[in-house]
Amino acid sequence: MKEAIKVGLIGLGTVGCGVYKVLTEQSELIRKRLGIPLIVSRIADIDVDRIRPVRVPREIITTDAARIIDDPEIDIVIELMGGFEPAKTFILDAIDRGKQVVTANKALLATYGDVIFKTAEAGCVDIGFEASVGGTIPVIKTIKECLVANNIRSLYGIMNGTCNYILSRMTDGGEDFQTVLKDAQSLGFAESDPTYDIEAIDTAHKLAICLSLAYGTRVKLDDIYRQGISFISQSDIEFARELGYTIKLLAIAIDRGGAVEARIHPTMIPFDHLLSSVGSNFNAFHFVGDSAGSVFLYGQGAGMMPTASAVVSDIVDIGRDLASGIAKRVPLRSYQEREIRDISLLPIDDIVTNYYFRFSAVDRPGVLSKISGVLGLNNISIASVIQKGRRLEGAVPVVMTTHKAREKDVRQALQEIDRLDIVLDKTIIIRIEDEELI
Ligand code: HSE
Repeated sequence: MKEAIKVGLIGLGTVGCGVYKVLTEQSELIRKRLGIPLIVSRIADIDVDRIRPVRVPREIITTDAARIIDDPEIDIVIELMGGFEPAKTFILDAIDRGKQVVTANKALLATYGDVIFKTAEAGCVDIGFEASVGGTIPVIKTIKECLVANNIRSLYGIMNGTCNYILSRMTDGGEDFQTVLKDAQSLGFAESDPTYDIEAIDTAHKLAICLSLAYGTRVKLDDIYRQGISFISQSDIEFARELGYTIKLLAIAIDRGGAVEARIHPTMIPFDHLLSSVGSNFNAFHFVGDSAGSVFLYGQGAGMMPTASAVVSDIVDIGRDLASGIAKRVPLRSYQEREIRDISLLPIDDIVTNYYFRFSAVDRPGVLSKISGVLGLNNISIASVIQKGRRLEGAVPVVMTTHKAREKDVRQALQEIDRLDIVLDKTIIIRIEDEELI
């Protein structure tokens, strides 16, 4: 029987400090739940002198991660430095030394997960990565354990707090994208270079991880269709409201039997759906399992203490196994490693959904019939039309929503429409999730 679990922490940034804080301030609570003490033996960071929100004894800090990875006394290596290298090498080295690993590194797992998970499975080493998706929200455990009885029919997720904060402010306060983004940056909700978040790259990493667990598969990031939020304007928010919708950046996975739809884009969803009420920088995940039905998870997707909570849950999970002499209880990707296979993701051209179009058209007789003519010739059926304002010079917005249409037809039709001389600007398309979103 082990007398204590010893951990080494690589990366003493915001989340690292949060983890240290929980492990030290809540050590008694953790001991009661784990059964034996959990000790932070060593911490590695390139900057040992920075003033931090936690006081760490000088003698346990080092700049040399090898002092953790090579220490035979340390059971669990916690990687919280982020980035690809040297994080990947540190994790693979830790696995090679037979150490259990906990990481929050979504970019690394979404890109190199296959090699990391295979190596860990071969070495019978556990990897905890709850904090990599949805911060404090127990998404990974939900897919790997709680929904193990289910075929996951669909997952709709608000997986990026920055985008949700921006879209919520635009919706509630009537402000435009650039103003809210600047404000979000000054409040610390958005990075100074916001590309990763607003272009949905961060969301793609999270969706890739969810897909690999839900369907026991390898996912190529480039196969996930991704569209960011920077093109959303106040007029789209207002038209959405008039149509009964809220615009959210949704990560969507739908099992179409034989292929899985995986896409991320700004999406109009009905006001009265739970996802619509997820405001500010919160994240939410709506699963539909064939036995469970709807399962909804909500919480903080980032931040020092919420993310630390998820990291510590992994540490204690693995610590409990070690304390009971179990090497690794749950397969890393939810499926047994020999069952991992490649599944096809449906190309975006083949999806069928409802659409919102905002045309910038001249206001003159015959415009609507020209536009609807092209839509009709491309098998697109119009569900509603809104035209507001009358300008003799310049464009007026003409908004249409469609019945179910195929993306390929939509793209073809809009290419033709945008070439018409009555259309003055590129048409805005926003997909609508309505009928299938239960
Ligand atoms: N940048 C992410 C977000 C948090 O805005 O949600 C880390 O995944």
